[in-house]
Amino acid sequence: MYKFFIETVGCQMNQLDSELAVSGLTRAGLERVMDYAFADVIIFNTCSIRQHAEDKVYSAIGRLKQWKLQKPFGVIGVIGCMAQKDQGKIISRAPHVDLVLGPGQLDLLAETIYRLLETKSVGVSTQPEILVSLQRLKDDHSAVKESFRLFDPARKVESRKNRFQALVRIMFGCNKFCTYCIVPKVRGPEQSRSPVEILNEVRQLVDQGVKEITFIGQTVNSYKYFMPRGNIVTKIPIPLKDVGVVGGDDIIRLSDLLYMSSEINGLRRIKFVTNYPVGMGDDLLSAVRNLPNVSKYLHIPVQSGSDAVLKRMKRQYSVAEYKELIDKIYETIPDAAVTSDFIVGFCGETEDEFRETVELVRYCRFKNSFVFKYSERPDTRSAELYADDVDESTKKRRNNELLDVQEEICLELNRKFIGRKVEILVDGETKNYDDGKVQLSGRTSCDRIVVFDADNSDLIGQFIEIEINNASPFTLFGCR
Ligand code: SAH
Ligand code: SF4
Ligand code: F3S
Repeated sequence: MYKFFIETVGCQMNQLDSELAVSGLTRAGLERVMDYAFADVIIFNTCSIRQHAEDKVYSAIGRLKQWKLQKPFGVIGVIGCMAQKDQGKIISRAPHVDLVLGPGQLDLLAETIYRLLETKSVGVSTQPEILVSLQRLKDDHSAVKESFRLFDPARKVESRKNRFQALVRIMFGCNKFCTYCIVPKVRGPEQSRSPVEILNEVRQLVDQGVKEITFIGQTVNSYKYFMPRGNIVTKIPIPLKDVGVVGGDDIIRLSDLLYMSSEINGLRRIKFVTNYPVGMGDDLLSAVRNLPNVSKYLHIPVQSGSDAVLKRMKRQYSVAEYKELIDKIYETIPDAAVTSDFIVGFCGETEDEFRETVELVRYCRFKNSFVFKYSERPDTRSAELYADDVDESTKKRRNNELLDVQEEICLELNRKFIGRKVEILVDGETKNYDDGKVQLSGRTSCDRIVVFDADNSDLIGQFIEIEINNASPFTLFGCR
């Protein structure tokens, strides 16, 4: 039996694609190993969002030259966003790579690897295979949609991180074309999946023991699917007492998906990421407020607190509009946790513009923020239009400063939980740094990490109540 090893970087789209790749490969008869030294196939699922992410993969691939010398019949495959972006360049930089396969061709992974393995093992020399096509991602009725249609639900329980949590793709691609971003180039335009397929998949996952699902997409709040009203009643596999929430034009929105999936027995928690700050309608906010199994957690990246920078980034909102949205969220859902992403040191960002970002972080009181230093991506609008003119040390300083401000806010917000009881889904073990004792950790509905002492790991996968007795910026501590 051939063995494969897979390494994944990047966002949740990649995490899910890797799970699907693992399912496909194991169905095809390969066995997964956790140490590449024992593998016949090594797969890198790659990300192109920043240069650093690519550099790491290129050096990891470089290090495999030796492995390939010892195992000439072995197969090295590069999949994911960097495969789509760099295509043949990967082979020129690393001639020992056998396969480059883009995100729209995942369904071809298992058969291509098998073919390579079989021909190589009988001593036939093979040419590298380059299977990437953005066209396939772009075409609504193309094989890629079909591949997702068949592939996503065919995933195996064992390919997930655990049995009780699962990601569900509700859309692929992105249409926003923020000037700095490579995603629309490598993942194609936005396409929403059919709600029938999504809900069937959720139900199947819940039947397999999943208690928490996360709907994923680059801009999930733009989810839209046209479906005549009659079809909604006949095709959607859910008791439909909430059909009334479906938008007037027979359009299924994210809020409708939330209402419908919240009806599924046994589904205890539903999350969704990532939101774009435009188009977070009242319907969505009320769904989050009204549905007890929808997490009161909203990731809404703002990127910058300066209107001039937002304009250069081609984000389609102003700082005032974003603040209005935040006010409305806290008004509608008082216990909501909002998180954001920021890019510091974007082209032409002045010290004053950066100060505006710091101010915005203070205003919004995010539960957490992810801060990234701008990394110029080839073939993006910002690379074409503007100079990457903020020096590395300034980017670093702004990055640290923003994180420091955010950390203060995190601690303030977390301290408010001391003395309160929270419900968490226990998701794993952690090690206590002081005494090395094993503790368990889980997350609240508002996505806060909670750590507590426990004698055994039986609680993993369960919802339990914890009384919080201490807090650090990124963790709450408590006991049962
Ligand atoms: N679709 C999501 C985010 C996708 S990428 C959204 O629009 O919010 C995740 C994050 O990476 C982005 O929010 C942004 O903060 C960061 N990012 C994207 N391109 C980048 C680049 N060229 N340099 C640095 N950070 C970048
Ligand atoms: Fe990239 Fe912007 Fe699309 Fe997010 S919304 S994936 S940042 S282009
Ligand atoms: Fe990276 Fe591709 Fe996701 S570029 S962030 S893995 S969509």
